[in-house]
Formats: sequence, C-alpha cells, structure tokens
Amino acid sequence: MSEHTLLPPVIGVLGAGRAGTAFARTLVKAGFEVDICSTRPPRALRHHLKIYAPGAVAVIAEDVAARTREHENGLVILAVPQEDLDDVEPEWVAGCVLVDATNAWQDEVLPGWLQAAADEQLPTSLAVAGHFSGSRVVKALNHVSHGEFDDAADRDLPLDQRRALGAAGDDGAARGLVMMLIEAMGFDPVSLGPLAAGRILEPDGPLFNRPVRRDDLLPFAR
Ligand SMILES: NC(=O)c1ccc[n+]([C@@H]2O[C@H](COP(=O)([O-])OP(=O)(O)OC[C@H]3O[C@@H](n4cnc5c(N)ncnc54)[C@H](OP(=O)(O)O)[C@@H]3O)[C@@H](O)[C@H]2O)c1
Repeated sequence: MSEHTLLPPVIGVLGAGRAGTAFARTLVKAGFEVDICSTRPPRALRHHLKIYAPGAVAVIAEDVAARTREHENGLVILAVPQEDLDDVEPEWVAGCVLVDATNAWQDEVLPGWLQAAADEQLPTSLAVAGHFSGSRVVKALNHVSHGEFDDAADRDLPLDQRRALGAAGDDGAARGLVMMLIEAMGFDPVSLGPLAAGRILEPDGPLFNRPVRRDDLLPFAR
C-alpha cells in the first residue's frame, strides 16, 4: 500500500453485507485498515466480521468516515442497497470521496430521488451524487460479484493481466484516487471519464459481472 501515498491508510465501508465484506476483506489483505458499519450496533457485527472480513473494525454508521476523514483524502465505499439509501445520512460521509458501488435492481422500491433518475433512464450514480452532495462521488466496484471478488483481486499480477475495473467521476482527482484504490486492491483501473459514463457499468450493461480486461473497457471511456 505504501506506493499509493495519496490514499488514506483507513477506508470506510458503508454496508457489511455481501459486497461490503468482500471489499473489506480485499482492503485488509492489501494492508488498509477498514472501518465498516451496518444497521446493527458494532457488537452485533463482531462474529459476522470474524468470518467474512477478519481484521475490519465495526463502527456505528455515523462514524464510518470518522477515521478516514482525519486524512487528506478520506474515502468511503457505499455498499448499501439502493432501496435503503434514504436511511443513510449524507452528513456521515461529507467531505469524503464516496465510491458508489451500488446497483439498481428491478425488485427494489427506490427512494423518490433515485426513482426519478431511473424513470428518466439516467445513471443512478448521478442521483447518488446529487443526494450525497457534500461528497465527491465516483462510480466504481459495482460490476464485480462478491463471489468473484477474492479470486479476481490479484496484486501479484502485472496490471495488464489483471481483471479491469472502471471508474467514472466528474472530479478528476477523486476519480484518480479511486483508481489508486482499485489498483491497490489488485485490479487494473480504467478511467471511463465523467460520472455519467459509469452507466456502462450498470447491471443491464455489457460489462456487468464479466471478467473484462483493460481493452474491453477502453472503448467506453469518454
Ligand atoms: N452482492 C454483490 O455481489 C455486489 C457487488 C457489487 C455491488 N453490489 C451492490 O452493493 C449494494 C449492497 O449489496 P449487497 O449484496 O452487499 O447487499 P446485502 O448483502 O443485503 O447487504 C447490505 C448491507 O447494507 C447494510 N445497510 C442497510 N441500510 C443501512 C444503513 N442505513 N446504514 C448502514 N448500513 C446499512 C445492511 O445492514 P444489516 O446487515 O444490518 O442489514 C447490510 O450490511 C447493492 O446496491 C448491490 O447491487 C453488490
């Protein structure tokens, strides 16, 4: 991790389900400290984390960014189902780079502000960025299944042999930071350009859950 000096040593993960724990496991393996939360009090997450994300620290949701934001580039990964996003206070992650790893699923009853974007066929991350307006939002990490995450992350491989993951965000510095994170986790990061370009990473797109390489993603970069 030491080569990625702009990255904070502590990363927050909002959501301790299938995706959140997969991200946390990979981050801990890569040498980061991880603060992770769910709807449950930290004590109730203890055994769950021992199994699914050993080494990650359970915190209350309000504090998920407390330690990462002590550093210059506080970074939090959003891994809460979109249908639950009205229960996540934007204030918890204000001032941080927020990785939107969420996806829209047909069966979810979305908050009105997200449904409005879905109705207009807009990328949901645009609505997420509007809602979490105190954070710099980057769409990433949403297009790999939790079941493949551990095997797909391989920090020993040269970049061009790793699975590629896209990053889309309007703030170039925030996007660059998330690309450093993706690389540190063991993937090959590909900049797709602005946040709206992240649409290509969504479940109905051609890249979702596919073991893609850099060359597969580059044609979609803007
Ligand atoms: N599963 C995957 O392979 C995968 C991969 C990439 C992206 N994603 C996306 O990531 C999101 C989460 O998916 P998932 O499969 O991880 O869902 P999941 O297994 O149902 O886990 C959701 C987690 O979010 C927590 N949560 C819900 N509301 C919260 C709140 N207000 N504050 C804090 N935590 C809250 C839940 O807490 P409790 O544990 O207390 O219920 C749970 O830990 C979805 O949008 C999904 O599309 C999933």
